[in-house]
Amino acid sequence: MFFKLDDLSFENKKVLMRCDYNVPLNNGKITDDSRIKKTLATINCILEKNAKQLILCSHLGKPKGEIKPEFSLKPVHERLKELLDKEIYFESKPVMKISSLPEDRIILLENLRFDKGEEDNNNGFAGKLAGFADVFVLDAFGAAHRAHASVTGIQEFIPACAGLLMQKEIEVLGSVIDNPEKPFNAIIGGAKADKIDVIKNLLPKVDYLIIAGILANTFLKAKGIDIKGSRYDEEALSVANEILDIGKDKIILPTDAVAAESFNENAESKAVELNEIPEKWLIMDIGLKTLELYKDILKDSKTIAWGGPIGVFEWDKFAQGTKQVGEFIASLNCKSVICGGDSGAAVVKFGLEEKMAHVSTGGGASLEMLSGKKLPGIEALEKNYEKFKDNN
Ligand code: 3PG
Repeated sequence: MFFKLDDLSFENKKVLMRCDYNVPLNNGKITDDSRIKKTLATINCILEKNAKQLILCSHLGKPKGEIKPEFSLKPVHERLKELLDKEIYFESKPVMKISSLPEDRIILLENLRFDKGEEDNNNGFAGKLAGFADVFVLDAFGAAHRAHASVTGIQEFIPACAGLLMQKEIEVLGSVIDNPEKPFNAIIGGAKADKIDVIKNLLPKVDYLIIAGILANTFLKAKGIDIKGSRYDEEALSVANEILDIGKDKIILPTDAVAAESFNENAESKAVELNEIPEKWLIMDIGLKTLELYKDILKDSKTIAWGGPIGVFEWDKFAQGTKQVGEFIASLNCKSVICGGDSGAAVVKFGLEEKMAHVSTGGGASLEMLSGKKLPGIEALEKNYEKFKDNN
């Protein structure tokens, strides 16, 4: 149990709102502003509830406690002003250097990670942030798996509630884990070995679990298939074997591939059976037979969770698997939940975002939820509720 926006009073209050404005940048230009857009509902709601001042804050990248101009939130400030169509004061000093904030109604603080205290969850840093406001709103679902000062530490000091985005993410991802409408099928792709925990947690709940991307290479290798020069995760081989044993009727692996001579955008490539991959070549995408197999598995789904790309979708030559699976999911009448990160980026790239039931703003955070872990940000909200419930 935790406070929601409607449970707390904002009338004439100073409010600190933690957002996840960790947006992708290319030469200082934001290439995907979805994370900014998705905080607008909470911002407007707080303003409509007559907050005296709204102080927005976020991290961006990993500056590791140093002031690095390439990680400044200035581009976010510009975009946020346009989207909100309101004046916003940008406080360019890092938090620990601020003596007092001006009285502007909306303020955006500079990158919280310019101070080491943020990631160290330092009490002094959390207290300084809390000192700016009467109420705290956590809307940074994408950072809720980080026990950092602006996510958890600050909640020791002042009443806190979940923002609208945070609440929606928890509800949708929670319902997929706890009570999915069946048939429930999941696709777990990409490269990261931490997805092994997701697979373990999902296996008892799903009808089928499609494994794709580099993760699939690890499973194919564990099965004794010679994947030649393909990337895989050596350390995960034995766990992959265990999982194959437990989930042999549920796990779906690729049956053919698009392989390339080298890991290169323009490398020579061809469609191959798994036992025909030329020496030293790498699997870069699924083949047509695998695509048909996936479609057949997915076609009757009532719920689909998809985390991690199918192939190297950033390069056109190897994007077909991810694109076609995305388009197929979008065409189905089912609750399709895309677990942020690279699969979220792929869905945006192929223009499918509006056709999915939910595209999470959290990469790591949504995967941790799917692996059954409690996110520190949510735990802190629950503790905060217990602490302040009698005063509100
Ligand atoms: C993300 O992009 O997943 C979040 O913003 C968290 O960022 P981090 O991995 O740098 O903590």
